[in-house]
Amino acid sequence: MRTVTAIMVPPASKARQAFLRDVLEGLQGHPKRLQSKYFYDAAGDALFQQIMHCAEYYLTRCEMEILETQSAAIVASIRASVPQADLVELGAGDASKSVHLLREWMRSGMGHRYYPIDISGNIIRHLQNTLPDQLPGLEVHGLNGEYMEMLAQSGQTSGRPRLVMFMGSSIGNFTPEEAIGFLSAVRRQLRPGDFLLTGFDLQKNPRLILDAYNDHQGLTRSFNLNLLTRINRELDANFLTHQFLHYPTYDPATGACKSYLISLRDQAVHIGGTVIRFRKDEPIYMEISQKYTIDGIHELAAGCGFTPVKNFTDDKGWFVDALWQAK
Ligand code: AVJ
Repeated sequence: MRTVTAIMVPPASKARQAFLRDVLEGLQGHPKRLQSKYFYDAAGDALFQQIMHCAEYYLTRCEMEILETQSAAIVASIRASVPQADLVELGAGDASKSVHLLREWMRSGMGHRYYPIDISGNIIRHLQNTLPDQLPGLEVHGLNGEYMEMLAQSGQTSGRPRLVMFMGSSIGNFTPEEAIGFLSAVRRQLRPGDFLLTGFDLQKNPRLILDAYNDHQGLTRSFNLNLLTRINRELDANFLTHQFLHYPTYDPATGACKSYLISLRDQAVHIGGTVIRFRKDEPIYMEISQKYTIDGIHELAAGCGFTPVKNFTDDKGWFVDALWQAK
């Protein structure tokens, strides 16, 4: 008879432990902070969908325009040095932008293999079920997990040159220093000649940027406060969301767009067994959405082991999908 000594921890409770650890560490630090990667529970996903459709949030519309009108040009830039390749997407979401590139990809004979990577198993299942109907002949190899691990896996499975897509200005949720670390790690998973297409939001009139993170319907406010609600529900806490003010900022000198929740009074919040005290007017740093310049993007490429190939921008010049090649 075998004796089983290992204690099996269900994955849900492992994720909860990591969430609790990150929340307590963040709120016990100075200044207090929470990580924006935790915005995306079911309610957060739904709010972000609404944000993408609201009048002030221009990013999604700009990038959609780029892919609708310039996918053929993007593919042509890649074909000039690589005749065939596989497509990998970090944080694929509903792939509503990438379908345009995928269609052009297949039409021009670049290939028919798509590796969407997402932390959400639901999203991967949905893409596997729906994309082949939209794009007959497409092979969808969904990868459910962490970016770097799944990127490594795509390299082993594919064996061909790859284009990695990282769209939607997700890179903005890293500080410029963290972005160097992340993109260098992506580079280490690639071979020389592979391509990377990254969506960057550009520095522009500061009012336009601030409005995008301060929409008049209060969707972005709810999106931020929803993380407190999520902590209440999942970590047994008692935040009173109306006692926090949504305070977005934009610094046109550095391109850092940061949002805070400000405690409106002295208050104590219980999270599990831990008490966290807030002073009146004390901030919680919630999110950075970094805005770039074209020069900054070129420097970033060079600093991470890539050569800039071409920038694809929308008509207003507000957003860029930057195509780089691994050195
Ligand atoms: C999903 C990271 C691109 O930073 O613009 C939208 C998230 N935050 N409104 C962004 C977000 C507030 C968004 N990204």
